[in-house]
Amino acid sequence: MSHLQVHGGTPLQGEITVRGAKNFVSKAMVAALLGEDTSELRNVPEIRDVNVVAGLLRLHGVQVERDVPGGVVRLDPRNVEIAHKADIDTHAGASRIPILLCGPLLHRLGEAFIPDLGGCRIGDRPIDYHLEILRQFGAQVDKLDTGILITAPRGLHGTKVDLPYPSVGATEQLLLTAVRAAGVTELRNAAIEPEIMDLIAVLQRMGAIISVDTDRVIRVEGVPRLGGFTHAALPDRIEAASWASAALATRGDVYVRGARQPDMMTFLNTFRKVGGEFDIDDDGIRFRHPGTELASIVLETDVHPGFMTDWQQPLVVALTQATGLSIVHETVYENRFGFTEALRQMGATIQVYRECLGGLECRFGQRNFFHSAVVSGPAPLRAADIEVPDLRGGFSHLIAALAAEGTSQVRGIELINRGYENFTGKLEALGATFETV
Ligand code: EPU
Repeated sequence: MSHLQVHGGTPLQGEITVRGAKNFVSKAMVAALLGEDTSELRNVPEIRDVNVVAGLLRLHGVQVERDVPGGVVRLDPRNVEIAHKADIDTHAGASRIPILLCGPLLHRLGEAFIPDLGGCRIGDRPIDYHLEILRQFGAQVDKLDTGILITAPRGLHGTKVDLPYPSVGATEQLLLTAVRAAGVTELRNAAIEPEIMDLIAVLQRMGAIISVDTDRVIRVEGVPRLGGFTHAALPDRIEAASWASAALATRGDVYVRGARQPDMMTFLNTFRKVGGEFDIDDDGIRFRHPGTELASIVLETDVHPGFMTDWQQPLVVALTQATGLSIVHETVYENRFGFTEALRQMGATIQVYRECLGGLECRFGQRNFFHSAVVSGPAPLRAADIEVPDLRGGFSHLIAALAAEGTSQVRGIELINRGYENFTGKLEALGATFETV
């Protein structure tokens, strides 16, 4: 698959299903490595990130069996072994997941090797919090030419960590390391995203002792041994919101089976403020354009329970069709407006600013990061030839092409497979007109 030729201008209409959250499934698969028994994860989507983690786990001796249509992954970590550095290296650039293997590998094997990390090109995406956490647990971190070697000559012991920012990955790093470290670990300023709560649920099923207290404090009492788990992944609320935004931008009507209200409260409030309509039932959420003008809004991304950064790009496409000036302040990543360049080419009026607009000062103010945007609408979108920049930006370009009049070429769509299961099949189900070229 190289690119899609999209004939835009048709409202998306129909029903699609979202399965397990990409940003949980990969971590739950890593958690299985901590156990001394087999685990079974259900509701697993067929996306590239799952293949990457499965590949990494297999390199370390974990047997991974998959029933792809049924969405079941069985993991047997009983014969875990040290992988060849060169083999791990072939995964370099494919994903940021290897960093989360550190704690489990240190517990099981006493060492971990992390190749140079990939993931989306959004800002620098450093791993300083991760390395500092591992050091605090007593690990030794050595930088090699090809990556980072982490060892724990004297084992891992509980610690107190206060994160400078409630990072999702760093919180997961701490959890995956603390559960089998000796003694008690306390994390302050933890991230509390629903995907993290589901990871905590998995770890508890394995035998861990973890409490989530008020004010972003997590406490873990280390245990010497963990077993396996059986668990169905929570649905992907980023994918659900992406389809919701696609419905709004194309004046459509889409039922997202699997979308779950409690994890999407903040998105739903915002969707409603823009003018979008939705109906919630036990199995999913129906999102639709109201048939009248959309309203401009002021929006700030934030950690949970705030408006997710991953919801921002798809919604911005819909905001190009809202009447008036919308202000969007991105406070999680310093560089997540690169995708707006293609929208401008397509006729959108979007200007990006270094200043913190519409909200409080964030970490990126006065630091030369174009992290605020003003979107003026409604602006009719026209077809263009676009190259997908990253996962969420790429899906947003696809939405723009679907909303635009004329035929667009959307290149580099492989990136979208990282996190959107069978998106071309879903587009077909929603009546989109396109060809794979
Ligand atoms: N940060 C640091 N140092 C670190 C770690 C993070 O400065 O060591 C900073 C980051 O640069 C960023 C902020 O902290 O500015 C938040 O990053 P976080 O660690 O929370 O993000 P992450 O764990 O790397 C996950 C998701 C992202 C999602 C973010 C925020 C996965 C695999 N990725 O990333 O998802 O945007 O949390 O919710 O879980 C996506 O799905 O497209 C995606 C990018």
